[in-house]
Amino acid sequence: LDETEYLVTTLRLRNGGCSLVLAIDDSRVSILHWGADFTGGIPDVGDLAPARAISSHDVVVQCELLPSASAGWTGTPGLQGHRSGRDFSPRLRVTDVDESADATAVTIVCTDDDAGIAVTSRLELGVHGLLRMRHDLANTGQTPYQLDSLALSLPVPPRATELLDLTGRWARERQPQRTPFNFGRWARGERRGRTGHDSSVLFAAGTPGFASRTGEVWAVHLGWSSNHELAAERVPDGRALLSGAELFAPGELVLEPGSAYATPWLYAAYSADGLDGITAAFHGWLRARPEHPRTPRPVGINTWEAVYFDQDLETLAELAVAAAAVGVERFVVDDGWFLGRRTDQAGLGDWTVDPDVWPNGLTPLIDSVHELGMEFGLWVEPEMINTVSNAARAHPEWIAGPGPHDPILWRHQHVLDLTDDAAWRHVYSALDALLSKNAIDYLKWDHNRDLADMGHRGRGSAHSQMLAVYRLIDELRRAHPGVEIESCSSGGARVDLGILERTDRVWASDTNDALERQTIQRWTEVVLPPEIVGAHIGPPTSHTTGRTHSLWFRGITALFAHLGIEWDIRNLPESETRELSTLVSLYKEHRSMLHTGTLVRADLADPTRSLYGVVSPDGSEALLAYVALATSAAETPGFVRIPGLVAERDYSVTVISGEEADVYLEAAAPPWVSSGIAASGAFLGTVGLPFPILNPEKAILIRLVS
Ligand code: GLA
Repeated sequence: LDETEYLVTTLRLRNGGCSLVLAIDDSRVSILHWGADFTGGIPDVGDLAPARAISSHDVVVQCELLPSASAGWTGTPGLQGHRSGRDFSPRLRVTDVDESADATAVTIVCTDDDAGIAVTSRLELGVHGLLRMRHDLANTGQTPYQLDSLALSLPVPPRATELLDLTGRWARERQPQRTPFNFGRWARGERRGRTGHDSSVLFAAGTPGFASRTGEVWAVHLGWSSNHELAAERVPDGRALLSGAELFAPGELVLEPGSAYATPWLYAAYSADGLDGITAAFHGWLRARPEHPRTPRPVGINTWEAVYFDQDLETLAELAVAAAAVGVERFVVDDGWFLGRRTDQAGLGDWTVDPDVWPNGLTPLIDSVHELGMEFGLWVEPEMINTVSNAARAHPEWIAGPGPHDPILWRHQHVLDLTDDAAWRHVYSALDALLSKNAIDYLKWDHNRDLADMGHRGRGSAHSQMLAVYRLIDELRRAHPGVEIESCSSGGARVDLGILERTDRVWASDTNDALERQTIQRWTEVVLPPEIVGAHIGPPTSHTTGRTHSLWFRGITALFAHLGIEWDIRNLPESETRELSTLVSLYKEHRSMLHTGTLVRADLADPTRSLYGVVSPDGSEALLAYVALATSAAETPGFVRIPGLVAERDYSVTVISGEEADVYLEAAAPPWVSSGIAASGAFLGTVGLPFPILNPEKAILIRLVS
């Protein structure tokens, strides 16, 4: 394109059943369409100008890539910033467009020389139609530019009238909530300096009543692990946007002349067939990344709910033997192994092995774990510091805070100021030494507090702290490429695609209560594929809720994720050891299918029942869980349709049972539950099967093979 062509033209990206059409009019860029693909050409932009509102500007108000007041936009501006109050209202003009030859990606440069701003926007439409975009803003002026907000936004059509986002708390992450998409702005802000237990891993708009397999849905996710806001906004002329942006403390982000700020990636998916289509786009895109874990996800055991801080060689070596006997493949020593760490009140910052607990270091345990054929993993919390630690005693200045007042404590700990070079080097060297001296295969990387009131020498620093954390993980990974890392944050408070660029799995929640986990995993896996979502079989009575569940229910729940155990299994009754081994074997038998197949969720009329599972990519097999979350209003479930099968295939359907006879009222169950049944995918998907009655908090496992 030469410069005159930037005045009026269209650009189109196509991939994975989606189209993104960009319109350039009067050298302003806007998105004309994001959604379903279509055939044929695009009429002239000039003929597509929307109606001009009465009592409005004399020109059609454009909703640019960065919506701006200079085009008449009265909603939230895409770019907010200034130079001591000046250059606050940019008028950005396209100055360069670079589209990939296969029309799946484009880089657009827009500049305002008077305001001294250049914005480079990158949009990529990837496999399965997953779109990602980011902006890079450079200060081309002569004086510092204070950036207040730089949002990534995408338009949705007027028929998207309903919103879905997620909220939560510790041990109850990712709970859905719905609101009508009214005029005005619905925003979900996170100011915790971490992704947040209540963060919305998915923020969606859709046609009325959109569900797992019906309705049109447009959804976004922001790949950032610190302060951010997701918003839906409908302006009076009816136009509507979904957006995501990093949030800054006042004056936090000042760009010196010549410097730049890059937004996180905003990920976005469109589906004509409900949320399962959104899930398929995210899973497909994540699985196509070169760094996505492809080796069989090992069955883990974690010591936390097994022994808490009561660690010693004899106890953990015994636990390792019991774990190996039921088929565990990775043994993870949780919190409590490092200097002075007998409770949660001391030790963070001192990343050396405590000689009082481990007089011969961790090597004897690591050796026995390896001899038993398991990997060895270790818990760390590198971004934190206890005042009771050698690190804090020697370097009180490493405690991050806004100054002059002191930061408040959370779980007796402060945040280590990783924007301080000496503090960063201290923790890098300690972890590097730990990984160099010990044969560690896996780190559980924890982060157990909010970073509210976060500052460095009097200025907000959540942004630079997050970049320092990313760099810390990146450099450790470069130095120790074989080590896998799990992202944990008081359970599931750090689940986002920013941290997942550098980690291999997330800990979805601190609750191992299988009933709570049904919802948490359903909404974590709406974006993340099961193989990177940690789920553990906990003790019979949950430590977080006091509920008691059968081993079969706990096991089935953990099966649809990356399975582990978090339970003292040293002295289990023989029947429980046998059932645990059965569950571990089931996971091993099916994990390659569970971790590559398509996640499907039925839309059931009965809110107390849930049916979900994984269908292999070619549709030749499937494994599903049918779960009773509570007692039902109906006496029997009637016919239930099985989603996601290939209509033309013939399937043999069987129920896989556990040892316990508690799974359903056996005598009253439909015959196929014990005898199995043969039926076509078309029949199972259209008519369905009569399902058994289940007691509450029970589940059955259904296997289909063609
Ligand atoms: C956090 C984690 C837990 C456990 C404890 C240890 O709460 O989420 O899984 O590791 O810390 O202190």
